[in-house]
Amino acid sequence: MDAHAHRKDEHVFIAEKFYQENSTNGLEKIKLVPATIPELSLDEIDLSSQLAGKNIAVPFFINAMTGGSPQTDKINQKLATVAAKTGLALATGSQSVALKSETYATGFRKLRSFAPKNLLIGNLGADHPLENCQKAIEMFAADALEIHLNVAQELVMPEGDRSFYWLDNLKNLNQNLRTPLIIKEVGGGISPLILPKLAEIGIKYVDLSGKGGTNFIAIENERRKAKEYDFLTYFGLTTAETLILARPFSNDFSFTASGGIKTALEIIKCLVLGADNVGISGHFLHLLLHEGEEALIAHIEALKEQLAAIMLLLGCKNVTELKQAPYLLTPDLLSYAQQAATN
Ligand code: FNR
Repeated sequence: MDAHAHRKDEHVFIAEKFYQENSTNGLEKIKLVPATIPELSLDEIDLSSQLAGKNIAVPFFINAMTGGSPQTDKINQKLATVAAKTGLALATGSQSVALKSETYATGFRKLRSFAPKNLLIGNLGADHPLENCQKAIEMFAADALEIHLNVAQELVMPEGDRSFYWLDNLKNLNQNLRTPLIIKEVGGGISPLILPKLAEIGIKYVDLSGKGGTNFIAIENERRKAKEYDFLTYFGLTTAETLILARPFSNDFSFTASGGIKTALEIIKCLVLGADNVGISGHFLHLLLHEGEEALIAHIEALKEQLAAIMLLLGCKNVTELKQAPYLLTPDLLSYAQQAATN
């Protein structure tokens, strides 16, 4: 196995080693206001939403993680089986390793057979030319393609990139691919400063992917001998902060929220803060590795029921109504919201 494929195994292993049950993504600072008299019954609740312009039955999905090595292809097969049984959309990890050698494309090519009817999303870095993106999409007839922005990860990665000119390429990809593009971070938080530029080049779908869950600065630092990037561990924007700061741009984009999401309450908070859907990676990986496929399926089914229960408590019968739901912010988040509105 070459170093690139081996890195895929290391990412899964280290992400799992660093997984924390009680990590914080800032969403605990948002308080939802109960309806008290909801004037609504549970059977009226509609969980459906949108992801990359497509309808999805529930407003969360299995976000990008892995694939390309024998071990991680097996994880993807299991995730695809879980997706097929629960109806969730599924994104793979970066397919760049599969573009280097056909050996590493085999697992990606089989993915569709495990989840024939699901929304499947491919993944590549922002420096890949159009031709690579087309090849990645063709590997499993992807319904959308995630393009990850991961400057901090690359800089801490010993073998990572050191030069980042991406905007022209993103514009070209967005203009020439028929498949929708989702621009995402990898758990460092998309800066609100880049959103007007993304809107200008026609990007519609953005996964804000904030801090508070899987931490690629910590993961790549762990792969360094001297581990000299400890000081950057908390650099970036939390999931709550990215959502609050992106709120002034909610008419320009359909947002995905991700970063440390584990519970139905956190999913609902993201939707109230304007996201159309929520991506979950590390938490689902942890459950799959520790408790197996059946336990992950049961957890996903429980999340669906819990989402409906919370929506009833808020008096909201669908995701559109959730976006109008009232919420309270702690003083620091309120200050961020005010600064975002005036900047
Ligand atoms: C990831 N993530 C990721 N993202 C991406 O765009 N391409 C990739 O190849 C990977 N690889 C990857 C591997 C593993 C093991 C994990 C756990 C995650 C990042 C992921 O999609 C997400 O943006 C962050 O992990 C934040 O979400 P969670 O994990 O905190 O729910």
